[in-house]
Amino acid sequence: MNRPILVTGGTGTLGRAVVARLLADDVAVRVMSRRPRRADDDRPCEWAVCDLADGSGLDAALTDVRTVVHCATNARNDVATTRRLTEAARRSGGPHLLYISIVGIDEVPLPYYRSKLEAERIVRESGLPWTVLRTTQFHDLVATLTTVQRRLPVVLTPSGVRFQPVEVTEVADRMAELAQGAPAGRVPDMAGPEVRDARDLANATLRAAGLRRRLVPVRLPGRLGRSLRAGANLAPDRAVGTGTFEEYLAARARAGRRL
Ligand SMILES: NC(=O)c1ccc[n+]([C@@H]2O[C@H](COP(=O)([O-])OP(=O)(O)OC[C@H]3O[C@@H](n4cnc5c(N)ncnc54)[C@H](OP(=O)(O)O)[C@@H]3O)[C@@H](O)[C@H]2O)c1
Repeated sequence: MNRPILVTGGTGTLGRAVVARLLADDVAVRVMSRRPRRADDDRPCEWAVCDLADGSGLDAALTDVRTVVHCATNARNDVATTRRLTEAARRSGGPHLLYISIVGIDEVPLPYYRSKLEAERIVRESGLPWTVLRTTQFHDLVATLTTVQRRLPVVLTPSGVRFQPVEVTEVADRMAELAQGAPAGRVPDMAGPEVRDARDLANATLRAAGLRRRLVPVRLPGRLGRSLRAGANLAPDRAVGTGTFEEYLAARARAGRRL
């Protein structure tokens, strides 16, 4: 029997791409979302309405699944939601749990990163068979760091900070591969092909968005600034992604998607 793979956050940036990849592999998929399925969504997958914040719909979402790909995230409560998910998964028969995490979370002191680190620990100690993949930032997040400032007269960029953005569909390919394989624990990190200065990426984004703004460098203070300037968010020895930032920007433009 083809038991489904449950994708939490299956409507999000990564989750959507994971669902597409699994469906292309002819795998049975169940998407978890807080919202009902859209009437025009005719993809051949199941749908589970569930809110991880209060657990409503969670037991039904987990019924008979063989693997859970945990892509749901919400900056305010990822620790509680991940704990709730693992407890319910244990009750449901103990599926393989695959969690997506971020390169450098143990060194970069951002509150969101602290919650990812704690969520990783919960996954590791859950008693479930588990896999964790850490990646660098997706291209669209790095572009958003600039476009979110479009209403300002200048664009602030963190001085001395570099990013190594990765193409989300390549992360989804890797997640789909891991989801269909045996539990593997912490697997090697995945990063994009190029380490680039934040300034350089901001300029590329502005050009692609047709915006003209002056860049203003901002020196991030304290341990946060030091860790980022030291490259704790990078994995140059794991530059396994191939899609570049410029290719991402060009693909968006071709698809008519505004930045
Ligand atoms: N973005 C990056 O650059 C990056 C890099 C490395 C790792 N990651 C990790 O990848 C994961 C996915 O990131 P993303 O950028 O794809 O996120 P995203 O686009 O913001 O999507 C978040 C998803 O979480 C779901 N969600 C939020 N709260 C929920 C709740 N209470 N119950 C159930 N579902 C809930 C949302 O579904 P509904 O709204 O449909 O309910 C949505 O599909 C995160 O764990 C993130 O830390 C991201």
